[in-house]
Amino acid sequence: MNFEIRELKPEDVDAFRQAISSGFGHDADLDDEQGGERFRAMFDRERMLPVFAGDEIMGTGGDFALTLTVPGGAQVPMSGLTIITVQPTHTRQGMLTAMMRKHIDAARDRGEPLGGLWASEVPIYGRYGYGPAVRMRGIKYDARFAGRGRSEEGVMVRLAPAEEAEVLLPPLFAAVQGGRPGMFQRSADWWKWRLFFDPEKHREGQSALRHAIAEVDGEPVGYMTYRQKASWDQLAEGELRIREVIATTDAGYRALWHYATNVDLFPIVKCWNIAADDPLQLLLHDGRAVTTTNMSDSLWIRLVDVADALRRRTYAGSGTITIAVADAFADWNAGTYRITVENGVATVDKVVTEADLAMDVSTLGALYLGGRDAMGLARVGRIEGSVEAVGKLDALFRISVAPWCAEVF
Ligand SMILES: CC(C)(COP(=O)(O)OP(=O)(O)OC[C@H]1O[C@@H](n2cnc3c(N)ncnc32)[C@H](O)[C@@H]1OP(=O)(O)O)[C@@H](O)C(=O)NCCC(=O)NCCS
Repeated sequence: MNFEIRELKPEDVDAFRQAISSGFGHDADLDDEQGGERFRAMFDRERMLPVFAGDEIMGTGGDFALTLTVPGGAQVPMSGLTIITVQPTHTRQGMLTAMMRKHIDAARDRGEPLGGLWASEVPIYGRYGYGPAVRMRGIKYDARFAGRGRSEEGVMVRLAPAEEAEVLLPPLFAAVQGGRPGMFQRSADWWKWRLFFDPEKHREGQSALRHAIAEVDGEPVGYMTYRQKASWDQLAEGELRIREVIATTDAGYRALWHYATNVDLFPIVKCWNIAADDPLQLLLHDGRAVTTTNMSDSLWIRLVDVADALRRRTYAGSGTITIAVADAFADWNAGTYRITVENGVATVDKVVTEADLAMDVSTLGALYLGGRDAMGLARVGRIEGSVEAVGKLDALFRISVAPWCAEVF
């Protein structure tokens, strides 16, 4: 099969959008003017990867220039892979592999030490060096069983209209983003087109987006964005579908969940993505009411430049460990790394010596944000080395909060 990845020219944008929609099984709406404006605002044509077979686009891909929080709080450039599709008539002929080659090489040339993505299916990206680094948890509870609880003294919760939310939410998010590994920064366009963009056709029978703001003495300390879906049989069993809860204080967090648990006619509370260590169950009167509806991977990480990436995060305590890293897709990374940590800060050198541990770069990606259990990865054969060495790795790489990624891209 002959195909070629070319530059995305302005005249090819519509065909590219059409191919993305069809690759994900949707119908493209090219007449929707806002769709075109949104595409131009969100996607940098220089970072797009249209795959042409003859004159037709049969594969799509591209990336966002993102900035990710890593353990210790450093803000690190991450090439965020997105819109990957290959038309069903052209799969399994190497189009994805060709896109990944260009994508990883471009990230390296631009000096972006990390690659990140959300995978539609687990088997796709490990071969390109990505590992699942963040976990997400979907939850559901019936507020009538969870208990309505006491309201949080001193914290007021009120609903803000969309125009006000556009001003209040971004600084609250920014205040939290820098303190939680796995969260990336949001630009003004990102907020406009991804968070606040709320056309009727996106609602699927639910309400418009609602923004509950928690305040102390008029100062915002958090927000909860959600939709409502009314439902009546004999009883009112409406659903409150939470998209995002962000709180800058613990009291704000408690007040927002108390609010969610007390919306009359909407006792079924759902949230698609809370952090793996979210203490919601401990907050509710009867935490057993909370059901985990989904526990799976969210953000996958690829270390494009292993040494650079390892230097940018911090570690726990002090110690030295050597890791032999295999990297079949980015051979510049392959080799043994000595990580010497002093009071949390690492010196990283490529060395020629026998290593304490051996792993693939995808496993190092899974460990990088501090959310994975090295012992578990060793148990399933992804890390080779003595129990002592794996324990040392675990102790150095672990962090006190679970990494969390707020949204799919
Ligand atoms: C995933 C997708 C892009 C793969 O494209 P493709 O051009 O067929 O991939 P390639 O031909 O380059 O395949 C490379 C390798 O990955 C494997 N592979 C690709 N997709 C796979 C999948 N979904 N599950 C398991 N293995 C897969 C291939 O078998 C091949 O393995 P091999 O080298 O051992 O033969 C394509 O199946 C697709 O468009 N899926 C629907 C949209 C989607 O899920 N996109 C991903 C969004 S995150």
